[in-house]
Amino acid sequence: ADVHWIELDSVDSTNDYLSRAYQQGRVSGCAVVLTQAQTAGRGRAGRSWKAVPGASLCFSLGLPVAGYQLPFLPLCVGLAVAEVLERFEVPVQLKWPNDLIVGGQKLGGVLCESFHTGSGATTVIGVGLNVHPVDVPQALSGAGASCLVQWVDASILPSLRELAEACVLSILHQVEAARAQGISALFKQFALRDAWLGLEVVVLEEGKALFSGRAMGIDENGAYLISTSNGLRSVIAGDLSLRVA
Ligand code: BTN
Repeated sequence: ADVHWIELDSVDSTNDYLSRAYQQGRVSGCAVVLTQAQTAGRGRAGRSWKAVPGASLCFSLGLPVAGYQLPFLPLCVGLAVAEVLERFEVPVQLKWPNDLIVGGQKLGGVLCESFHTGSGATTVIGVGLNVHPVDVPQALSGAGASCLVQWVDASILPSLRELAEACVLSILHQVEAARAQGISALFKQFALRDAWLGLEVVVLEEGKALFSGRAMGIDENGAYLISTSNGLRSVIAGDLSLRVA
């Protein structure tokens, strides 16, 4: 696909910047915004994702398609980025629905958003990945945060632009594969990297514990399965999240 690249030194949020650009008709088709720094980056569930200059990989990829046409998008994106990092032998795990984990700590996250514009539907895929350590953790998560250079020698790490290009190609490839071949291959690949699998977890809704059980993996609908004392229950992405019990 022909991808239009926009590189910025600093921006509020690459997701917001790209959404505005589509809405104002300044971009169309496939476009990427890559920034060195982000002042008001957003994560899931109202979390923030700030980035000091050069410390993290922060980009958004926009596709001219509606979200519902991209099933399991967060899973595809997590897997796509994991596959890029595995080329550098980083043992990445995926925390359903959209966190990248290494050594039990958060390495990155994915934020997918869809909306309508004058010319049709657009989906914006935001990826944030800690690359270099910073004094203040950028991604505050219960387990703390990790960064790429803790796992890869900085001398073999490509530039942020090259890393972003590799991720974009990998995402486009995964999205296409999920559409063309269906999702069973995706689920197999996800299961190999599933950070929850087998753990005792608590299912949360807006931070409140709903029930607990053992994490059993994703089902054919992309929901997460939990084995509870009352049988198997599935968790739908979006408003629910899991926490290790
Ligand atoms: C999460 O962990 O909850 C998701 C974090 C996603 C952060 C990325 S950084 C690039 C893009 N722009 C944003 O404002 N957010 C995403």
